[in-house]
Amino acid sequence: MFRQVILSVADNRLVSETIKRYGFQMGARRFVAGETLDDAVRATRAMNQEGIAATLDHLGESVRDRAEAEQAARAYHELQARLHAEKLDANVSLKLSMMGIDVDRALGIEQTRELVAEAARLGSFVRIDMEDSRYTDVTLNAFRDFWSLYPGHVGAVLQAYLRRSSSDLEALSDEPRNFRIVKGAYNEPPNLAFPAKADVDDHYRALVEQSLAAGHYTAIATHDERMIGHALRYIRAHNIPKDRFEFQMLYGINLGGLRELTREGYRTRVYIPYGTDWYAYFTRRLAERPANLLFFARALWNR
Ligand code: FDA
Repeated sequence: MFRQVILSVADNRLVSETIKRYGFQMGARRFVAGETLDDAVRATRAMNQEGIAATLDHLGESVRDRAEAEQAARAYHELQARLHAEKLDANVSLKLSMMGIDVDRALGIEQTRELVAEAARLGSFVRIDMEDSRYTDVTLNAFRDFWSLYPGHVGAVLQAYLRRSSSDLEALSDEPRNFRIVKGAYNEPPNLAFPAKADVDDHYRALVEQSLAAGHYTAIATHDERMIGHALRYIRAHNIPKDRFEFQMLYGINLGGLRELTREGYRTRVYIPYGTDWYAYFTRRLAERPANLLFFARALWNR
């Protein structure tokens, strides 16, 4: 409910202009590594030095024209080349809407395929983030196609708040693939998404078990200690090898928890967003937690 209200308000022009003007210094900086690729590389190196891998998100979504979509793809090629040249333990996460599927579906898919092909050539990996439910089918279909071309070099995301996710996972379990399991961050109607947090949590636990049991490499992406505890109990009870899963968290949230998992010998990865187009990402982080909004409102008031 809180999330729905905040995400709806965030669409308001006055609100968005105010946040875009003051938000980076007043709060977004906590969740975003910086506005440039150099900032992102610096943050990645620091995490790698602690034994934590990274996945980098060049911020941006819902591009409006071909030129913007092509520019986004170029930025990702530059990112992949830089991560490789600097020998960083990092891959990339991207959104199909940023690659241009709303402008021209074929262009968006082709640009993404080229990035996955490049990842395969470099021995790296592309995670296709999951956006709102308008994109679920196109994203999962693209993932299936890319996997058949470049197995092991691309991964998808399943959202526990979506009622359909268990069936989607089942349909993609004909061979072991690679999934990140998240709770889900968008504004969805109750016929598509569980409105009650307890149901989302139950589905999250079930999806992690389903993914591990099917032999998929599973990224357990959550800051929720109860979800992590449940996953660890399942992993130990079923002797799942440590190289079949990893824990992931977002930059700026509960990094202490991620460090602890690293110390215990688990694979860990931090999701590092960077770039100037941080508004939508930042509002989703505000919507996840009332305390974040309060902190931001106070900073704005005291400005
Ligand atoms: P939950 O929201 O229940 O939070 C559990 C606890 O974590 C909170 O009590 C609080 O302590 C802490 N916490 C959570 N969010 C916080 C915040 N914003 N600020 C401060 N503390 C916070 N979603 C999506 O729809 N598509 C995607 O592709 C991705 N990708 C993705 C990658 C990675 C690596 C992560 C960790 C998450 C995503 N998400 C995502 C976001 C995800 O759907 C979800 O919105 C957030 O992870 C918050 O949910 P939690 O699982 O942390 O649980």
